[in-house]
Formats: sequence, C-alpha cells, structure tokens
Amino acid sequence: MSQLVRAQITALGTYVPPRVLTNSDFEKMVDTNDEWIRTRTGIRERHIIDKGMASSDLAVEAARLALAERNLEGNEIEAIIVATVTPDMLFPATACLVQHKLGIKKAWGFDLSAACSAFVYALQTGAQFVSTGTHRKVLVIGSDVMSSILDYSDRATSILFGDGAGAVIVEPAANHGDGIIDFIHEIDGSGACSLYMPGGGSLHPSTHETVDKRMHYVHQDGQAVFKFAVRKMGEVCERLLERNGARARDIDCFIPHQANQRIIQATAERLGLRAESVIINIDRYGNTTAGTIPLAMATARQEGKLKKGDLVLLASVGAGFTVGATLLRWTI
Ligand code: UT7
Repeated sequence: MSQLVRAQITALGTYVPPRVLTNSDFEKMVDTNDEWIRTRTGIRERHIIDKGMASSDLAVEAARLALAERNLEGNEIEAIIVATVTPDMLFPATACLVQHKLGIKKAWGFDLSAACSAFVYALQTGAQFVSTGTHRKVLVIGSDVMSSILDYSDRATSILFGDGAGAVIVEPAANHGDGIIDFIHEIDGSGACSLYMPGGGSLHPSTHETVDKRMHYVHQDGQAVFKFAVRKMGEVCERLLERNGARARDIDCFIPHQANQRIIQATAERLGLRAESVIINIDRYGNTTAGTIPLAMATARQEGKLKKGDLVLLASVGAGFTVGATLLRWTI
C-alpha cells in the first residue's frame, strides 16, 4: 500500500462500567449454567451499565484516559470517529455528544456503523485522514452498550455480550516502518439477517407491534455466524500476511475481536500463531462489539504481551457481515 505518511496509534484508553454480571447471575435469570457458557464461549463475566448511562459516557471515559496518556488537550483533536452499534440516539451522532462532553472545540466527526468490525474500520478511516496529511490528530473510539439491545429472557444471545469502550489517538508515524502497514476489509450483506436488530429503523419503525414482537433486540443465528467467522477471520488474516511478506510466527501480538474463544482459537490454529501471541479477555468482558479490540489491546499491554516495536495483527468479523484485518507496528 503506498502512503505518503503512515498513521500510528499514539495513546490508548479503555473503560468498562463497574457493575459485573457473572455466569451465576445468569443462572438465576434464564435456563443456563456456568459450565455451558464457559465451554461454549469462554465467558465468565461481563460488565453492564447502570440505568442512565449510554455509549457516549463510556466513550468519554475511555477518551479522557487516551488524551491523558498522550498528555493532550482535547482542543488539539481534529476529528472524532465513534464506532458503535448502540448510539445514544439514532441521531445526532454519538460523536457530537462525545465532542460536547469532552469540550473539544475544533473537531468534526461522525459515527461509524459496522458492528463488531467497527473499531478496525474506524481506525483505518482515521488513519486515512492522517496519511493524506489533512489531519494530525484523530480520536477513534469504539463504544457499545450492548445491554441496551439484549433480550435478557433469551439465553442464546443475552449471555454473550457486555458493555465497554476503548479509545485511541491516531497521528502521523514518527519513524519509517512504524504504524499501520496494511489492511483488508470486506462486507457481505447476504449474512445481514444472521445477526441483526430488526426494529427501530426505517424498515420497521418503532410501534407497539414491533415492541410486542421483541424486534428491538439482537437476533442471531449463532451457528451461521460462528461458521462464517471461523472461515473468514483466518482467510483475511492469511491474505494480509501473505501480501506483506509476513509469516504467522512473525506476529508478536494477535488481537482478535472477542466474540467466542473457540473462534479465536480456531483462527490462531489455522494461521499457526504462537500461543503466547494470542490475546483473549472474553472471560472478563464478554463481547463488547466495538469495544473488544481496544479492550484487548489494553489487556495485552497489562500482561506485557504488547510492546513498542511489536508486529500486531488485528482481526474482526461481525454483523453485516463485516470483516476486517489490520497489520501494524506498535509504537507505544
Ligand atoms: O460478535 C458478533 C459475532 N457473533 C459471534 O461470533 C457468535 C458466533 N456464534 C457463537 O458463538 C455460538 O454459535 C453460540 C455461543 C452463540 C452458541 O453456541 P453453539 O455451540 O453454536 O450452540 P447452539 O446454538 O448450537 O446450541 C446448542 C444447544 C441448544 O440446545 P439443543 O437444541 O441442542 O437442545 C441450545 O438451545 O445449547 C442450547 N443453548 C444453551 N444452553 C444453555 C443455547 N444457549 C444456551 C445457554 N445455556 N445460554
């Protein structure tokens, strides 16, 4: 990929709400058990907001930490991209609410909807503005309050998701070879009805009937999504590595979307990644949709598995279907 300037991540901040919902809490709510959830998904607990909070609140907390790590004033940010499938409201964009709450005066921004791939799509979108030289500091946030669209009487979907957010600052890379190297993104709308929320949009505006039919909740054909994810996540990663002349053992840190531990492990095995390079934190957070990849970046750093100079592979598959993989040299 020819770029005038490469973009790099210069700061990371994450936030999850304090309240924890464990598998044993779910045992009291639906016909499930800790063993089923752990062995089928890898999840032990997830964080859930208290009433009154929204995606913008989680986003603001994560963004504050990213700004503090970089020692930046909010007013130095030129654009804000919020990746989310659970905006505070259908409009205005959550990016506007985040801008106002952070008191950032000069930025423009928008929301990006790509479900579980939204963070990698937003990262690349922010990187393009930096690469072309039009922007020097872009705030990219993934934030989702999945608990706001879950049917807590549906054991097949409610146990999977949690709430959380992560924010990064994207700036020009200081050194040759640093930052975002390449990416592959794909969408496949033939899978649209495998994972979706049917109600509340222009096709099925909210009515008493849509509420009665439980159309404002996540609906998922778990097995169809599982099969697609296992096939696609490995495939795009293989193509990305190959066209950059990288081998699986060159990857220091593999940071995949956290939807199911079995999807992550199948992908890691297919690629032949070193076990210690694979980041898994789904046990603590569940699937936080746009939040998973920055949250996993934070876990990798805490565990000493993500260091300056590391070659990093990000990968995601989500509703849409959306697919993404990013190769980058970590610089912080
Ligand atoms: O980030 C967005 C992308 N989403 C994903 O990547 C999710 C991909 N899909 C999955 O992770 C898995 O398909 C699930 C975890 C959602 C489900 O696992 P599975 O191994 O595919 O289970 P299944 O849907 O085939 O269900 C197996 C059985 C069923 O019972 P019967 O019909 O065999 O009697 C389900 O009713 O497990 C039952 N089941 C449960 N049992 C206890 C479904 N959910 C539960 C539950 N507790 N929570």
